[in-house]
Amino acid sequence: MTQDAPAKIPGFYGFLFRSLFSRIDPERAHHLAMPVIRLAGWPLVGLILARTVRPHTDLAARVLDISFPTPFGLAAGFDKNATMTRGLANLGFGHVEVGTVTALPQAGNPRPRLFRLISDRSLINRMGFNNDGAATVAKRLRRVRRGPNVPVIGVNIGKSRVVDVADAVGDYVASTKILAPLADYLVVNVSSPNTPGLRGLQEIDLLEPLVRAVFDECRSVPLFVKIAPDVTNDQALRIADMCERIGVAGIVATNTTVSRAGLSPNTARVEAMGDGGVSGPPVARRSIEVLRLLRARLPKPFALISVGGVETATHVRERLDAGADLVQGYTGFVYAGPGWARRITRGLNDAV
Ligand SMILES: Cc1cc2nc3c(=O)[nH]c(=O)nc-3n(C[C@H](O)[C@H](O)[C@H](O)COP(=O)(O)O)c2cc1C
Repeated sequence: MTQDAPAKIPGFYGFLFRSLFSRIDPERAHHLAMPVIRLAGWPLVGLILARTVRPHTDLAARVLDISFPTPFGLAAGFDKNATMTRGLANLGFGHVEVGTVTALPQAGNPRPRLFRLISDRSLINRMGFNNDGAATVAKRLRRVRRGPNVPVIGVNIGKSRVVDVADAVGDYVASTKILAPLADYLVVNVSSPNTPGLRGLQEIDLLEPLVRAVFDECRSVPLFVKIAPDVTNDQALRIADMCERIGVAGIVATNTTVSRAGLSPNTARVEAMGDGGVSGPPVARRSIEVLRLLRARLPKPFALISVGGVETATHVRERLDAGADLVQGYTGFVYAGPGWARRITRGLNDAV
């Protein structure tokens, strides 16, 4: 598969990206970065990093009685197994959403399953919830929680692949029992395009009993539902109304899209990558649209986490102004590197 145009990424990370990361399989690059991110979790490294930028106190967000040092956090999928949580927080993310975690450990889809569209600063993935399973992730979260400076941690749960959609409720509840006590907030993910039948759970007649069961199990831990950008406006509003009925704390909008609209016209290359969800700038417009739609329907204190195509402090500010309580990103991290979250904090500081 031919590479597309190299991204114009400045600085040392840009050099590293062009000369190394962009030449190797994206999932391998992710694994190469993991020990470096873990190193950032060491207390001394954390102290040094903390000196490079301090979030302005006005950036601190209090959402659902949780204090976030900044409104910008890392979206689900990067720290699937809670192996880098502290390092990611030290790199400047105001919260880290761990997962998606499933009740049973699973390998995910066959590789290759992650692709770069560099000229669009976008990714296509069909990872399929590769993760170590709820029990193992819980052990790691317990360790993080025992340490100093515990970051704000969301835990995102999904359906185990071997479990039938008809039995999804029990599977999600099993994960909830294990993980909710270790989470500042819990997310029911029904929007990833890479687990067969999963997005069908966004239909209200299936979603309502599922969310009710998880809600009853997670008690005082705030519960979110994560939705796809591909839901219709009507569907998004039905989900919003359902969340309000049940007492769900918030919605995370949005996941990746199955649409190939908005990508540079290199159809053959995109087709060769196959199925999967697109992330990065091509999702931004729909992500903001869904945010505005939901905020118009659900006034605060209902919480909205906006995610999809966020790359800069200006983008974060735009989402906050459109009614988001918190903002997340993933793909921007891949293209901008380890200084990304701190750069965003600096940009937000400047605008305070
Ligand atoms: C490689 C990859 C893996 C992802 N895995 C998950 C996941 O396990 N669970 C989930 O809810 N979202 C997952 N996402 C979606 C992101 O959390 C986010 O919703 C989406 O990428 C849009 O944000 P972005 O444009 O900033 O990347 C994944 C995204 C990528 C790129």
